Amino acid sequence: MFVTFEGLDGSGKTTQAELLADAFRSEGREVVATREPGGTPLGEELRRLVLEGVDMSAWAEAALFAAARAELASRVIAPSLHAGKDVISDRYIDSSLAYQGLARGLGVDKVLELNLVATHGLLPDWTVLVLVDPEVALSRSRVSDRIERESLDFHRAVDSAYRELAAMFPNRILAFDGSRAAAEIAKEIRGRLRDLS
Ligand code: TYD
Repeated sequence: MFVTFEGLDGSGKTTQAELLADAFRSEGREVVATREPGGTPLGEELRRLVLEGVDMSAWAEAALFAAARAELASRVIAPSLHAGKDVISDRYIDSSLAYQGLARGLGVDKVLELNLVATHGLLPDWTVLVLVDPEVALSRSRVSDRIERESLDFHRAVDSAYRELAAMFPNRILAFDGSRAAAEIAKEIRGRLRDLS
């Protein structure tokens, strides 16, 4: 199973991705956990460039995220899935659709097209979207990188973008209320995935 986690910085998605990986492992499944941007040597270099480097145009930003994703998909995700392992990724294509496609205004269709080419069409089986109020998320995150330093309005736009994507891809994106205790959310996520598989 290929499961991705999405949400605002400070939504708690990273904790939930870790808790699902723990749950899968305790059930005896082999799990490869990864994160974006990053997850490969080239991806980590691109992460530094895109998050800590100079200011850049929106398409340059989208292309760098897509390059990191191409590397991760071909070197880590696809081989792991072929080997029968589960893959859990903290962020994937929907981050680019939300941040670059909608919040930056490049267009969901074009950003999706770029990413489908870059990943040979490798989409997750399920995407867990952790929803929290953008103000709460911003107050929780340690504003540290170029994109996290964007305004509250930008983070509000990303939040609406994610909700729009959940309506656009209802058969893949599962939304959860992230304002509750982490253990409770984790239990609900595990239960939903079990019902669906
Ligand atoms: P993330 O790794 O979640 O941040 P951190 O490790 O600091 O918690 O993501 C870094 C930032 O990159 C985040 O603000 C979202 C942004 N991002 C995009 O804009 N597009 C993308 O395709 C990806 C993967 C991330």
